[in-house]
Amino acid sequence: MASKSGVTHEVVEKNIGLMAILIVIVISLGGLAEIVPLFFIKDTTEPVEGLKPYTAVQLEGRDVYVREGCYNCHSQMIRPFRAETERYGPYSVAGEFVYDHPFQWGSKRTGPDLHRVGGRYSDDWHRVHLINPRDVVPESNMPAYPWLETAVIDHTITADKMRALRLVGVPYTDDDIAGAAAAVEGKTELEALITYLQGLGLARKAAN
Ligand code: HEC
Repeated sequence: MASKSGVTHEVVEKNIGLMAILIVIVISLGGLAEIVPLFFIKDTTEPVEGLKPYTAVQLEGRDVYVREGCYNCHSQMIRPFRAETERYGPYSVAGEFVYDHPFQWGSKRTGPDLHRVGGRYSDDWHRVHLINPRDVVPESNMPAYPWLETAVIDHTITADKMRALRLVGVPYTDDDIAGAAAAVEGKTELEALITYLQGLGLARKAAN
């Protein structure tokens, strides 16, 4: 204990306040070393090949998905395990979510994962299922969403939503934004939600 470093260590051990501060600093550095590189790795920041930004209608459908809290029962994150890939399709990769603000990974699966549900059922199946899930899956405990069939999307704010997303890096063109209101006008929330669901996970669906 005579050495200089021994004495310094003793100071830290006897001063719990100082020790707590030093522990926090060391843990933060460890966390930063794990998190910061993710911002610079191509795999996590660049879109996978074939990934397209949501169309105006899909974007509105996605907002219905968020508003209704579908993420409380459905994840959009297929893990790289055999049981998952056999059931849902290719596992999810970070590059598929770069246009998702906020992402809808979820952490609870009362119902199945939805990341690759696009194209799995017909539009009609989704329509019946969303209005009353029991009509197609008798044992389902998913809530019914009948109001989506009559609620019409507010097409006057779609362009603004796309402009906001462009600010955070979604590559919408001026034409995309100019055509948004016309694309969405008259669409019901049910139609928009189904269009969103039908586009989910297609970029990598053919992979594996
Ligand atoms: C309380 C939990 C719960 C909520 C909230 C919920 N679901 Fe479900 N969902 C389920 C369950 C359970 C199933 C499986 C039975 C069935 O198909 O109805 C399911 C099935 C599905 C399926 C079929 C998936 C497949 O691969 O077979 C789709 C699509 C779906 N839900 C979409 C939605 C959407 C969109 C919303 C929000 C508007 C939503 N769910 C909200 C529980 C939920």
